Amino acid sequence: MSKLAPVYVSPEEEERQRQAAQVFASLPDRPRTYHIVTYGCQMNAHDSEKLAGILRSMGLAESPQREDADFVLFNTCCIRDNAERRALGNVNWLKEIKKDRPSLLIGVCGCMVQQPHMAEGILKQYKFIDLAFGTHNMHELPSLLCRLVEEKQRVVSVSGQENLIAEGVPVRRLYPHHAFITIMYGCDNFCSYCVVPYVRGRERSRRMSDILHEAEELQKSGVQEIMLLGQNVNSYQGGPGETFPNLLKALDGIGIPRIRFMTSHPKDLSQELIQVMADSRHLCNHLHLPVQSGSDQVLQAMNRGYTRSVYLDKVRSLREAMPQIGLTTDFIVGFPGETEDQFEDSLSLVEEVGYDAAFSFVFSPRKGTCAALMPGQVEASVASRRMDRLLEALAKSTAQSYQGMIGKTEQVLVESISKRNKGQVSGKGKRNITITMDGTQEDIGHIVPVTITSAAVNTLRAERIKGE
Ligand code: SAH
Ligand code: SF4
Ligand code: F3S
Repeated sequence: MSKLAPVYVSPEEEERQRQAAQVFASLPDRPRTYHIVTYGCQMNAHDSEKLAGILRSMGLAESPQREDADFVLFNTCCIRDNAERRALGNVNWLKEIKKDRPSLLIGVCGCMVQQPHMAEGILKQYKFIDLAFGTHNMHELPSLLCRLVEEKQRVVSVSGQENLIAEGVPVRRLYPHHAFITIMYGCDNFCSYCVVPYVRGRERSRRMSDILHEAEELQKSGVQEIMLLGQNVNSYQGGPGETFPNLLKALDGIGIPRIRFMTSHPKDLSQELIQVMADSRHLCNHLHLPVQSGSDQVLQAMNRGYTRSVYLDKVRSLREAMPQIGLTTDFIVGFPGETEDQFEDSLSLVEEVGYDAAFSFVFSPRKGTCAALMPGQVEASVASRRMDRLLEALAKSTAQSYQGMIGKTEQVLVESISKRNKGQVSGKGKRNITITMDGTQEDIGHIVPVTITSAAVNTLRAERIKGE
């Protein structure tokens, strides 16, 4: 598929939104506090940082409890049915609070809202929702909220403009020491089970200069780690010559101590990228490389664009170039037509690769995707038994990986103080595994060299390397 050129939100539109934010701040009936509830992936978490940035620029203050906020915004996900049901359950719960406090404003946005049937459903069934907007309308939040408060009528805005990029949106970052940078939006892969291309639009990449500028600003503010985000970062194409390997090289030169990225699609993981990863000074030795299934037939039905042996070849190349790399992945079990033998191909793949960790999901049919209509839908009880077996295989794989790390050194970016064990801190090593060790508040935000001493189920224990 040829790529659509992105359309940047114009400076005039940016100015219109800035003015709307100012007008809003002077409205007498305006809400004063907000609370955002976020579902879904890290992209959505970062979108919520932008939504919070916009709301603060409009003079709203964050309320830590949703029950107390004047405006509650749900940033939703629809990747699987349970993500959607959880969001709707919570929105409905707020409806009861609104009965006692009619001034409460309820907003919903994000991927769930972008689905055509959901936009209609909100109009007809969820009349208590005051504001709904899709993934392509986020930057319009100031003018949408102004309309809501001034006209005292519900506002629904779900546009069809799929290839927009909004730069210059204020961001309220959640973490002081690590930060998200979206490098590309949307997805063109159309894996047969996945709703993302429909709700996030066509693949479009930010200009490399904008990304580098953002990274430089983050470095100045003391950020120790950046996470580059995109549904398929390997196919980043910001402009002529602005490929993902080139972007990584340029970011590596800025000097932020740690760089990560996700998600990497196996079909686009090139030998060139593997070499750049190996040569990079700051890239962490961890890669999330979602495989989804170990069976060639299932991979083909999923439209993933690689076979088991191609995937295994890439894993081999990665490990040759970076012997200490840790791999994580995603699996879907119970894909339509998946036989017992094909499922067992996933089990053997776990053994063959050896993962640090994995997210496993039971296939969930999504409206509008090909797989939802495929014959051979797998019964829930069968899928659930397969899931148990997969989790067992993965637990073994994780335990083996962790055992292999005992005695090795790691660099931990300390994130928090342990609530249960006094005098203990924890953070992530470069391989993205949680590591705990002795420490104090002073360690938070610092990178500490350690030696791994033992392994538990989801964490490693370590000792500081003396004299460092
Ligand atoms: N762009 C990323 C993944 C985004 S969605 C990639 O290609 O890897 C995150 C994960 O959700 C997917 O890797 C997949 O394992 C899972 N997923 C997506 N759609 C699903 C569905 N309909 N049912 C079950 N799991 C699904
Ligand atoms: Fe979904 Fe596939 Fe795109 Fe990932 S690559 S977001 S799984 S369509
Ligand atoms: Fe969910 Fe949308 Fe992310 S569907 S997983 S929030 S891109």
